Amino acid sequence: MDQATGLRRIVSPKPVKVIAVSGGKGGVGKTNVSVNLATSLAKDGKEVLLLDADLGLANIDVMLGLNPAYDLSHVIAGERTLEEVIIDGPANIKVIPASSGITRMANLTAKEQAGLINAFSELGHAIDVMVVDTAAGISESVINFCCASHEVIVVVCDEPASITDAYAFIKVMSREHKIERFQILANMAHTTQEGRELFNKLSKATDRFLDVMLTFMGTIPYDERLRKAVQHQRAVVDAFPRSPSALAMKRIAKQVDNWPDVEQMGGQLEFFIERLINSDADNAGVC
Ligand SMILES: Nc1ncnc2c1ncn2[C@@H]1O[C@H](COP(=O)(O)OP(=O)(O)O)[C@@H](O)[C@H]1O
Ligand SMILES: [Mg+2]
Repeated sequence: MDQATGLRRIVSPKPVKVIAVSGGKGGVGKTNVSVNLATSLAKDGKEVLLLDADLGLANIDVMLGLNPAYDLSHVIAGERTLEEVIIDGPANIKVIPASSGITRMANLTAKEQAGLINAFSELGHAIDVMVVDTAAGISESVINFCCASHEVIVVVCDEPASITDAYAFIKVMSREHKIERFQILANMAHTTQEGRELFNKLSKATDRFLDVMLTFMGTIPYDERLRKAVQHQRAVVDAFPRSPSALAMKRIAKQVDNWPDVEQMGGQLEFFIERLINSDADNAGVC
């Protein structure tokens, strides 16, 4: 660490809060939640990094109409710095585009690992929150990202497959990876009652069979404005800030902002990357 970096850490020792947005099923709204949560937090004055950990079709750069020239694979290969890869999103959020490097995280060479840890450590001093938009399913990569995060938001909607997939996700994370705490967010609900019932359904099953603690974060209503925002490649909190889904997203962001600060040795972003690339079944981050 050079002197300037050391000095910055002394001046700004606050750890970076890392939040994974997951849920098991595709199409439940993970990417929209990630983008709008990140944008709302940034509008509230936070420095936010948004990591696209899903190589799927509707990823963050498409959602926001961004055209990334580089991604994390270029950082891993030592061809670009992290700063060169990051692009600006709404409210100045910093977006790390999706990358084939994501699924290779657990299999990097020692040199690649060191390079990546270094890249994130240099960035960490300026960041308050990192939001990680994960892929659907329960792949090794999704699990690793969630294990390395401080909090896991599980997005669910009123479809039988969403509830069963969320349950399966929570089961694997708790039984095999010792993650006990999950934040449940009901999306695309037609009433707040429907959102609450979704949570009750899920927690009834987990209370019965699993040793986990679920917290209900609230409901994002089904909102045509959100769809319109997606069509216009904008975050709904940016395009239609007074729409029902935008107001709900902002409420969720306030809640996230009120979560207690994380305690973390040294507490900077490199710890996330270290946990990510060293992750195995015993290496749980959320607990
Ligand atoms: N609250 C909502 N109201 C209306 N439509 C929504 C809402 N949330 C998501 N959608 C729709 O669902 C689609 C999939 O959302 P997305 O965030 O890409 O899901 P995921 O990342 O989980 O696959 C969006 O493009 C949008 O059309
Ligand atoms: Mg997505």
